[in-house]
Amino acid sequence: MLKLSQMATAVALVVAGSAAMAGEVEVLHWWTSGGEAKSVGELKKIMQGKGHTWKDFAVAGGGGDNAMTVLKSRVVAGNPPAAAQIKGPAIQEWASEGVLANLDATAKAEKWDELLPKVVADVMKYKGNYVAAPVNVHRVNWMWANKAVLDAAGVKSAPKTWDEFFKAADAVKKAGKIAVAHGGQNWQDFTTFESVVLGVGGAKFYNDALVKLDQKALTSATMTKSLETFRKIKSYTDAASPGRDWNLATAMVIKGDAAFQFMGDWAKGEFAAAGKTPGKDYVCAAAPGTANAYTFNVDSFAMFKLKDANAQKAQADLAAAIMGTEFQEVFNLNKGSIPVRLNMKMDKFDDCAKLSTKDFVDTAKTGGLVPSVAHGMAIKPAAEGAIKDAVSQFWNDDKISVADGVKNIAKAAATK
Ligand code: BGC
Repeated sequence: MLKLSQMATAVALVVAGSAAMAGEVEVLHWWTSGGEAKSVGELKKIMQGKGHTWKDFAVAGGGGDNAMTVLKSRVVAGNPPAAAQIKGPAIQEWASEGVLANLDATAKAEKWDELLPKVVADVMKYKGNYVAAPVNVHRVNWMWANKAVLDAAGVKSAPKTWDEFFKAADAVKKAGKIAVAHGGQNWQDFTTFESVVLGVGGAKFYNDALVKLDQKALTSATMTKSLETFRKIKSYTDAASPGRDWNLATAMVIKGDAAFQFMGDWAKGEFAAAGKTPGKDYVCAAAPGTANAYTFNVDSFAMFKLKDANAQKAQADLAAAIMGTEFQEVFNLNKGSIPVRLNMKMDKFDDCAKLSTKDFVDTAKTGGLVPSVAHGMAIKPAAEGAIKDAVSQFWNDDKISVADGVKNIAKAAATK
């Protein structure tokens, strides 16, 4: 038996020990909309529950362009955050600068290799070592619709082809509502554009044109058809669309001012935060022509090298928490995405998430699973930026002919 005085010492040691292990994690992200903020709030709670201090580094701006600019200046100044929302090939670029921490100890202890689809694990590793922790899988090629607006316009079900879509959009317009809620920012323009390319050309064409950046595909008749379809969609948007944030466009659909939005399933996070139910209040369907394909977008946190031992411990705990079952469930229920960790129970998830899970697995087998270019999953940031600019120029300026649009995009794709 310990004497009282010995017990007091033991308790003091334990307390001092845990205090010494508690650290601060500064986390850079761009999750500032209603649904996004709720989701990241869950991660903060988990970290605080472990005794760590969460330093929020939120940089507003959907798609993350602003966040990436701010991140660069912090890293250049030698003062990186513990973790930053970075994804796709950009993870490799950051790792090659030698600034990212090695997460192998956590990954090994938590068995990440067994718990992640290989396509995802590969993106999280640099030269075989984990440098980032994945959060979720977002599907990008969705179309969201307000059920009551469709009913009032006599549109019986979600359109499955682009021809059906334009008929439905005409009916909505006739019924006095905005057919397409769009936010005119270049990542949003491209989110719509890549769904159009996928719907018009199919997954193989999408891969050739937008992932491999093959000039033949980029200058083909299918690309011409894609641009024609893309331009036609614009005529169904409202005049206030330029510059609008994506979540405000989602709000137009939630409120019933507009019928459709083309957006990834973070939009579902907004419907959920507004208390809306899929199937009853709103419809989730693959963008026309894309039911057999899946553009994936995996959010992840890359971790930066830190000097302080407590901060390193907090960082490792953050990485472990991100891949933990508790976070994977509660975060993704709020965010609209599905867990990236394999074999998670899906009973609390809605039908849209269940469809996403099924399609993710099915399309992985058929070749329909393709990386989202709009969301930084497919190509190097320089080429991505250039083609996004060319696509938005075409969207914004009706005087650019389809033939010139095709040429400009193909030229931009050659950017090194
Ligand atoms: C991110 C999502 C985010 C969306 C809008 C996407 O690139 O992957 O997590 O909700 O941008 O900000």
